[in-house]
Amino acid sequence: MKATVYNQYGLPDVLQLQEVVKPEPKENEVLVRIKATAVNSGDVRLRKADPFAVRLIFGLFKPKIGILGSVFSGEVENVGNQVKRFKIGDQVFGHTDMSFGAYAEYLCISEEGTLATKPATISHHEAAVIPFGGVTALHFIKKARIRENQKVLIVGASGAVGSAAVQLAKSYGAIVTAVCSTANMDLVKSIGADNVIDYTKEDFTQNGEIYDLIFDAVNTVSVSRSLKSLTKNGIMILSAAEMLEMLQGFWFSMTSKRKILTGVISHSTRDILFLKELIERGVYKPVLDRIYTLEQIVEAHAYVEKGHKKGNIAISI
Ligand SMILES: NC(=O)c1ccc[n+]([C@@H]2O[C@H](COP(=O)([O-])OP(=O)(O)OC[C@H]3O[C@@H](n4cnc5c(N)ncnc54)[C@H](OP(=O)(O)O)[C@@H]3O)[C@@H](O)[C@H]2O)c1
Repeated sequence: MKATVYNQYGLPDVLQLQEVVKPEPKENEVLVRIKATAVNSGDVRLRKADPFAVRLIFGLFKPKIGILGSVFSGEVENVGNQVKRFKIGDQVFGHTDMSFGAYAEYLCISEEGTLATKPATISHHEAAVIPFGGVTALHFIKKARIRENQKVLIVGASGAVGSAAVQLAKSYGAIVTAVCSTANMDLVKSIGADNVIDYTKEDFTQNGEIYDLIFDAVNTVSVSRSLKSLTKNGIMILSAAEMLEMLQGFWFSMTSKRKILTGVISHSTRDILFLKELIERGVYKPVLDRIYTLEQIVEAHAYVEKGHKKGNIAISI
């Protein structure tokens, strides 16, 4: 089968299209013929080994993972003899967790992994991008116990995580203010933002408005500045926090009535099923910017790395 393989950390061109052995499902696994995957900010971090901590988990000198890609949507082509939840021909989508391997024509995944039947109303490209931004936003929004009519500010509302956060916050009845650049104002309004702040013209920390919840998806404003815009009992989500903000968040949450939520999320079938239901009810739609082919993956990585994508980048396989 065709797959994008990488044997060293570095620039996008370390990703090389090669012929590799097609996997065979074990007794509890399904073999998925992948129709779409995505290039996420997380894939870029793993490709570059940035931050350095990536090397501690994924290989000090060279990556242990041969094939990147953590999200997928496709068709079940074969099943192991113990598989009960899926059958040949099912249209499925999911997340590989820490095993990766979705930049390929085929993937084996345990039926107990993060795997569900694809929503019938959306394309494989749209389904493939859900388990990254959608699940990340959902993880933090559930933790924050967001309530109806709460005032919520979402910074980085035009990205993969931010565009999901806007729609999820709205689905809980929040009043959402989105922070984005001029070019993305129409996009964030179209996905439900009640108010929009163009960060190129206005600094939300200086306008006197305060919010019950601040969801910073891009980590471009310091914690001390953002706190000026948070209510006395408010919650701040820093989904893109690095080690410094994680430590700040931990200390702040211990010593204040306000809470800062950070950390690395995990994936579950329950979460993708929750998002699937929202899609079927018409209250959530993954935002797609561009679609590339597997042959164009170097170009796709270079685009994502610039940090200006609108929502998500899907890859056709
Ligand atoms: N905690 C976890 O487990 C977890 C999980 C997933 C992702 N993450 C992290 O979350 C971060 C965001 O991921 P993502 O995939 O959503 O990123 P992304 O899609 O690449 O987001 C970039 C978006 O943010 C906008 N942006 C850039 N600068 C901005 C600013 N100053 N204010 C407001 N918007 C700005 C960009 O548009 P413009 O440039 O036009 O403004 C673009 O639309 C990454 O660092 C990723 O590693 C963490």
